[in-house]
Amino acid sequence: MTEHRSPDTKFRTSLLEENEGPATNPTDNRTMGEIIAARFSRRGFLKGSLAVSAIAATVSPLALVAADDARAADGSVFKFDELEAGIDDKHHVAPGYDADVLLRWGDPLFADSPEFDPTKQSAAAQARQFGYNNDYVGYIPIDGSAEHGLLVVNHEYTNSHLMFPGIVKVVDKDGKKALETAPLSKDQVDVEMAAHGGTIIEIRKVSGKWQVVRDGKLNRRITATTEMQLSGPVAGHDRVKTNADPAGTKVFGTINNCAGGVTPWGTYVMSEENIHGYFSGELPEGHKEAANYKRLGIPEGAYEWAAHYDRFDLAKEPNEPNRFGWIVEVDVDDPTSAPKKRTAMGRFKHEGAESIVAKDGRVAFYLGDDERFDYVYKFVTTGTFNPNDLAANRDLLDAGTLHVAKFDDDGTVDWLPIVFGQGPLTAENGFAGQADVLIETRRAADLLGATKMDRPEDIQPNAVNGKVYVMLTNNTKRKAEQVNAANPRADNAFGHIIEIAEDGGDFAGTKGKWEVLLKCGDPSVAEVGATFSTATTANGWFGMPDNCAVDSAGRLWVATDGQGPKATGRTDGLWAVDTEGAARATSKLFFRVPIGAEMCGPLFAPDDQTAFVAVQHPGDGGEDWAPFGRPSYYEDLSTRWPDFKPDMPVRPAVVAITKQGGGKIAV
Ligand code: FEO
Ligand code: CA
Ligand code: CA
Repeated sequence: MTEHRSPDTKFRTSLLEENEGPATNPTDNRTMGEIIAARFSRRGFLKGSLAVSAIAATVSPLALVAADDARAADGSVFKFDELEAGIDDKHHVAPGYDADVLLRWGDPLFADSPEFDPTKQSAAAQARQFGYNNDYVGYIPIDGSAEHGLLVVNHEYTNSHLMFPGIVKVVDKDGKKALETAPLSKDQVDVEMAAHGGTIIEIRKVSGKWQVVRDGKLNRRITATTEMQLSGPVAGHDRVKTNADPAGTKVFGTINNCAGGVTPWGTYVMSEENIHGYFSGELPEGHKEAANYKRLGIPEGAYEWAAHYDRFDLAKEPNEPNRFGWIVEVDVDDPTSAPKKRTAMGRFKHEGAESIVAKDGRVAFYLGDDERFDYVYKFVTTGTFNPNDLAANRDLLDAGTLHVAKFDDDGTVDWLPIVFGQGPLTAENGFAGQADVLIETRRAADLLGATKMDRPEDIQPNAVNGKVYVMLTNNTKRKAEQVNAANPRADNAFGHIIEIAEDGGDFAGTKGKWEVLLKCGDPSVAEVGATFSTATTANGWFGMPDNCAVDSAGRLWVATDGQGPKATGRTDGLWAVDTEGAARATSKLFFRVPIGAEMCGPLFAPDDQTAFVAVQHPGDGGEDWAPFGRPSYYEDLSTRWPDFKPDMPVRPAVVAITKQGGGKIAV
């Protein structure tokens, strides 16, 4: 998610995720972003695909010849003709592929769902329709099929200025045009709450094209008001008790569900990420949660929910934020089941929860905490996975050991257990038990001396090559004196990717080796220090890795968040990244999003014949998208993707990419 808005506007722009970390260090030095912006403006930006030519011209002709030669010989495992990078109002996929819109915001999900009408939105309608800002996409086969299954999709957040008419108004301010925003009505807040959460929807491939099954028995919407259970060590603790839930076991809703995962036993896990934005108000003077909330940036007050619901107001319900920031597990086989917030997996700004079964049957979940200078985690279940009785795995996530990563400069990674009573996690430091440790996971990790990272996002174990890939989006706040081997660039505007090999191939273990797979950014600008292979073309490099996927052949695909005219001269998209042999660190562009969007998903069907991608917050973005964009809002959108109808707003959507004529992707 890239959410950031100042308190006096409803614009949640989508450039760089600007969550204020606790260790922000303003500097007078010229930032890498400024260097790049100056470079692009010197060249004079051209519209659309012409922009690509402007970038390509910065790579020496010799380098391009060398690139083409190397590509033919370097043994890349990806076979497709690369797409041209650029910026316009549409999506684009590599030649020879179809990219079909499968599910748009507002699409009906049930036989009785109303058709989408943006002028007649209601919470009741939205709760029966596809939600906003699709992020994580997972696929759970039905009867083992790669062409019939449940698609599970997170709806991370809402952009009210893109969703609702009449929110943004053009006014005259001292003789100049300015934009003002109106407060949301309670009905609009209710629509926002119903547009959050997740969707579980049956889909089927018919004659090579995916279709939604509207009367699927397992179809379900989960929202910010769905009743769920707190489970694990924090359930029933005093710090999660509220007026509405004096027992501390029942929570209404999940919010800001970013990436996620599907467990080996076929449940859907949703990560609660930027929870701070939903809370407003002030804690009572001297309240015991003050330091806890400060470490998470609570309250930010980006949403107006507290104006209508007391539970989002810290003054009225001071414990409510402790009930968010968890991993939520959903039993997709029972649409009436209460999702469970699995507190053993820690509380922070959870990005994703991808998992793998270790040699001894325990299951490891890799977890990122998406904030500048925050941490990489791994949760290892106490129990072992039972492949013969999936129901026997029902509560595996309630008991296990959460670890945090310490990346040493010598290339080892130590997974430090976050366990009450061990090391500094004691009463002297204010922890009375494991529940306290989990509620304040970040503080526990601080005390353990974990390595402060450049915004850990999606982390993907690869069952084919045994490695684990860690996406680190960027961190322009890192100063030269804060550089370490695992975060090697000061003013890291473009992010990097770390590859971990657990010792002995044991995903449940506590030691491994790591190396940097890739430092991102434009490799033709020496100051950037990017490390793409020389075979990578002017279209093939990217910045800001965020989500990722590994296909069944073990090939890595990286989705980005935060590119644009000023940052990289291209929209976000999906890149294929070689990890093995001479082609290692070669990257090729496969799909790109329309203006203003971020690339989420991605996910490959089990037969590798479909790539599902989620186009999040298309048409968002403000001045930074000039000259291509402008402040974009319902009445004056930078794109009306994907419908391109004058009476339809821009709509986040999931896209299914297939090869024309069938077959595996990029083979
Ligand atoms: Fe929601 Fe970290 O992206
Ligand atoms: Ca993101
Ligand atoms: Ca993300």
